[in-house]
Amino acid sequence: MSRSRTAILAALALVAGASGTALAVVPGSSGIAAIPCTVDYKVQNQWDSGFTTNVTITNNSAAKTSWSLKWSYAGNQRVTNGWNAKVTQSGTAVTAANESYNGALATGGSVSFGFQGSYSGSNALPTAFTLDGVACNVDNGSGTPTDPGTPTDPGTPTDPGTPTDPGTPSGKVDNPFVGAKGYVNPEWSAHAAAEPGGSKVANQSTAVWLDRIAAINGVNGGMGLRAHLDEAVKQKGSGQLVIQLVIYDLPGRDCAALASNGELGPTEIDKYKSQYIDPIASILSDSKYAGLRIATVIEPDSLPNLVTNAGGTAGSTDACATMKANGNYEKGVSYALDKLGAISNVYNYIDAGHHAWLGWDSNFDPTVQEFYKVATTNGASVNDVTGFIVNTANYGATTEPYVKITDSVNGQTVRQSKWIDWNWYVDEQSFAQALRTKLVSVGFNSGLGMLVDTSRNGWGGSARPTAAGPTTSVDAYVDGGRIDRRIHAGNWCNQSGAGLGERPRSAPATGIDAYVWVKPPGESDGASSAIANDEGKGFDRMCDPTYGGNARNGNNPSGALPNSPLAGKWFSAQFQQLLQNAYPAVS
Ligand code: GLC
Repeated sequence: MSRSRTAILAALALVAGASGTALAVVPGSSGIAAIPCTVDYKVQNQWDSGFTTNVTITNNSAAKTSWSLKWSYAGNQRVTNGWNAKVTQSGTAVTAANESYNGALATGGSVSFGFQGSYSGSNALPTAFTLDGVACNVDNGSGTPTDPGTPTDPGTPTDPGTPTDPGTPSGKVDNPFVGAKGYVNPEWSAHAAAEPGGSKVANQSTAVWLDRIAAINGVNGGMGLRAHLDEAVKQKGSGQLVIQLVIYDLPGRDCAALASNGELGPTEIDKYKSQYIDPIASILSDSKYAGLRIATVIEPDSLPNLVTNAGGTAGSTDACATMKANGNYEKGVSYALDKLGAISNVYNYIDAGHHAWLGWDSNFDPTVQEFYKVATTNGASVNDVTGFIVNTANYGATTEPYVKITDSVNGQTVRQSKWIDWNWYVDEQSFAQALRTKLVSVGFNSGLGMLVDTSRNGWGGSARPTAAGPTTSVDAYVDGGRIDRRIHAGNWCNQSGAGLGERPRSAPATGIDAYVWVKPPGESDGASSAIANDEGKGFDRMCDPTYGGNARNGNNPSGALPNSPLAGKWFSAQFQQLLQNAYPAVS
């Protein structure tokens, strides 16, 4: 994964999304005025035992303020969860009723909803639908609409009741971290405990990274997703528990760097959906896990890379330009939001880079637009988004105690220092709070919560400043006072001098749902030299301590520790340094 994006110029990509393959299309036949409604029931994805469907209703009769669509299955299909409608099933009969926010359906208007189901044998399509008791047009590809009969008077619209706030999707709490303990990953914990002094932090909660399809079932005999969830149920006991999962396997992954390139090629979006997201969604939907709070971190670095590194900037790469042009990051993230957000105990947090990547207006505003676009297309809605996470696997300080962005030295703003370089933020928390405000202003829910990955941003130890820097110049002031000791804020790989940051905790500041340890401390960011592997990972010289840098870190030395293993592998020397330089100190 690459995490350093200081490019000043940014271009906003608006790549049209495409919908899934239609297995059955029921055309709207808008010319047939006598038919009061048409239904387009489309199986978007189907695998051995499950499927997802998108249904679009078009209303050709009087405007409605609520609606209810019914159909029956010929087979043993069972709806497991729905979105944008309340989908219930009794025997073979299914009813989809509007949510509080989408009951209005004008004459000629359409509304869509989706659901996931299970089945065995064949997944035969329903052949008849009624909308509020009236038969709709269904032709299942034959081209001959069935006679819907004489349209009945739609009558007086029923009272849809008082609209509830769609901001809090049913069953979800505002901040899943409050009142909940964090899942301790036994595999990470064992690594940590095996290091000298490591047992002092081995009981901390860290995220589980689903970094390839095989991770769903477990790699090399390791724990798969079900094993983690089963363990989480045990750890939960009778209280509340939150388990964090990192969704990280997009096609063409890590397009601005090489260290965390993944298994899927740039065009493999269908495989991402059907072999990665769908199976994850199916496991998370299991009622065994309904009592857990599941917080997902959606695709680190992906959307920020589309904004700042996909053309028109010094840091741009061909790989990012490809992902912007083919739209597969956007389609993948929307799909993940939609599918996972539909599950009543899943809380989606979209990755939002970090302050030293997106903290310039020219990057900040287009990123917000990009997030909104992706969260409202391809079936996703803002209700699928609980919040955003900053600093994932990065090293930016949560707060800089001795440097404020409003400080000036001898009449010169600190913004003009080399370190800050005209950014509007000096730390992650101020960035996260400002981003949150902006996201809500463009249409995200007002309850939006932010996470900060504090796993490696403590910057303690003997090099930590204890007071503001000298006021001889802006550079002396900033460099003398900043706790973030990196050579350049664009450096992201195995940073020398870093320490464990704040231990995970909920609601630490306004607008912040939690400090979390998403990057498991001690797991490498990338190899310091080329290492053959079957995961698709490359060698990024930002992980090589002898490298002089690139446009994304202002051509500075990488600041990386030597002798590092492949991204994700245990790096004992780094863990020991993180422990040594922890802030707050580990005792
Ligand atoms: C990196 C690796 C990934 C690993 C993760 C957490 O992004 O590419 O394989 O799971 O870090 O350590």
